[in-house]
Amino acid sequence: LDIWDPETSLSLPHIRSQLIRLEDTVLFHLIERAQFPLNSTIYRPGALPLPASHLSFMDWVLHAQEELQSRIRRYQSPDEYPFFDDAMATPILPELQYPKVLWENEVNVNQELKRRYIEEVLPGVCRQTGRAERGEAQENYGSAATADVNCLQSLSRRVHFGKFVAESKFRKETERFVGLIRSGDRKGIDEAITDKAVEAKVLERLRVKAEMYGADPGMVGSEGARKIQGEAVVGLYRDLVIPLTKVVEVEYLMARLKG
Ligand code: TRP
Repeated sequence: LDIWDPETSLSLPHIRSQLIRLEDTVLFHLIERAQFPLNSTIYRPGALPLPASHLSFMDWVLHAQEELQSRIRRYQSPDEYPFFDDAMATPILPELQYPKVLWENEVNVNQELKRRYIEEVLPGVCRQTGRAERGEAQENYGSAATADVNCLQSLSRRVHFGKFVAESKFRKETERFVGLIRSGDRKGIDEAITDKAVEAKVLERLRVKAEMYGADPGMVGSEGARKIQGEAVVGLYRDLVIPLTKVVEVEYLMARLKG
């Protein structure tokens, strides 16, 4: 996202090209994660005793990573949102003056994103690659949690991009949206921002990408060698990423006239 230039950061074709690029990032991180067993122990608070922390192992890693990255200004960027507000620390670099393109809002769907990633996405991804049955691999707890952090951060960036999409649509059809927002018509807003044809294209492109990148070039056609199943990635976008992006858009718009 060219965040310095509001003209570009709110141009729908530019946002779309960024979202398409992000699909690769999400897909590659998922492929990284899928090579390890599910390791459900790392998601259970208290299952691994951690010094002075009640968090699950994965949350501990995520929290520590966010604290580090907050210090190098990650969360000052308007396209980055934390999972842990209490991890935010003072940056070691001077604050940047990003141009204000978004309306003041507190929309952050990371809790739901994380919960559903752990409960729905991961078991699916690991089951389809036969990893769920392979049991736990203690020696890979760190690698698995690190891959999770990468997956969650790229997914979070993806769904919160909805704010830029929403702002862009609002500026294009201000009158229409003001009416819907004033009457609290979330369903109407949802319909106004939905483009079924674009959604179908996204899913189709993802299937192709997942089938390409998920296969070893030497072993195309041999299902056992797949790094990830196309359906797992398509399902992730269809059932989680796209709906959650719309929640971000709708809630952002509902806050658009406040303040
Ligand atoms: N792009 C911004 C920057 O480089 C925010 C950001 C994204 C970031 N990922 C990061 C910052 C990781 C630190 C670390 O500042």
